[in-house]
Amino acid sequence: MSTPKLLEVEDLRVTYRTAGGDLPAVRGVHLTVDKGQTLGVAGESGCGKTSVASAILRLLPPGARATGRVLLQGEDVLAMNWGRLRAVRWSAAAIVFQGAMHALNPVRTIGRQIVEPILLHERGVGARAARKRAAGLLEQVGVPSWRLRSYPHELSGGQRQRVMIAMALACAPDLIIADEPTTALDVMVQAQVLDLLRGLVRERGLGLVLISHDLAVLADVCDRVAVMYAGRVVEEGPGHRLFTDAVHPYARALAAAFPTIGDPASRLAPHGLPGDPPDPRGLPTGCPFHPRCAAAVERCRTEDVLLRPAAPDRSAACVHIGTEAVAP
Ligand SMILES: Nc1ncnc2c1ncn2[C@@H]1O[C@H](COP(=O)(O)OP(=O)(O)O)[C@@H](O)[C@H]1O
Ligand SMILES: [Mg+2]
Repeated sequence: MSTPKLLEVEDLRVTYRTAGGDLPAVRGVHLTVDKGQTLGVAGESGCGKTSVASAILRLLPPGARATGRVLLQGEDVLAMNWGRLRAVRWSAAAIVFQGAMHALNPVRTIGRQIVEPILLHERGVGARAARKRAAGLLEQVGVPSWRLRSYPHELSGGQRQRVMIAMALACAPDLIIADEPTTALDVMVQAQVLDLLRGLVRERGLGLVLISHDLAVLADVCDRVAVMYAGRVVEEGPGHRLFTDAVHPYARALAAAFPTIGDPASRLAPHGLPGDPPDPRGLPTGCPFHPRCAAAVERCRTEDVLLRPAAPDRSAACVHIGTEAVAP
């Protein structure tokens, strides 16, 4: 039998129960990540990126339901009992959430917050050893170890994000999921944090799922990128190719919205794309992108196309793909 992949997400669906009815936030997502590989997940706000990230480690809020399979080294996270899930969190996979200020506890020192998961998840590791490891982790992410005694508000935004990464590394997971880890940072610091993540993948052979609304950032860092729209992946392929010659009209629009890597304009929502993403509670018929798509034809109103091979090493979900070229 072949060794299982680090992460295989199969037909993941996430639905939130809301006052206005069920909200299908993720509608059948498939993703694969191997050790030493970085997978980017791109898409506008609301397309379901955070829901995917949260579902992978079963961190969805109450009232949310996830179905499908999330295989972490072959073992289905969605089917684990709580004991097993606790063991897997941190030590097999860890998440760096967006907005480090809110994710860190303001009344606890940095040291305590890095040491805590180590003591909790690794029996037999004493307080001294845990503190030593925490100091080493801080140094590794480029924060001086005397900062162990600091409180979150005493650090810059970039340092806080680095601390979050150090926390995620605390129990040496094989997989890290980073949800918009650089969105709140200025361009220079953003580049430094991305370099740090890239270095960790290279040196530790981690698998990394890097989530961002900014396709340019992902193209620069990721081996492969999946572009999401309305709860589904609409194109998946090699990172740089998705930025330079995407085939799905939405992926193209997203690439055009972030023209250069590190451009301050990449702080903004995609421009040049008319309209807003649809409300998941009332998706358009056919392809959910058709009301905003310059290449839409009559069939797009009725035909809901799933991901299919578009080129070697690439798949996309568009009626034009595999039939005729999409107009530039
Ligand atoms: N806790 C929640 N309750 C209800 N709806 C939610 C909740 N979290 C997210 N959603 C909805 O799910 C959809 C996807 O959200 P999210 O996964 O946060 O997208 P993204 O991270 O790509 O911005 C959005 O329509 C959002 O409004
Ligand atoms: Mg999000």
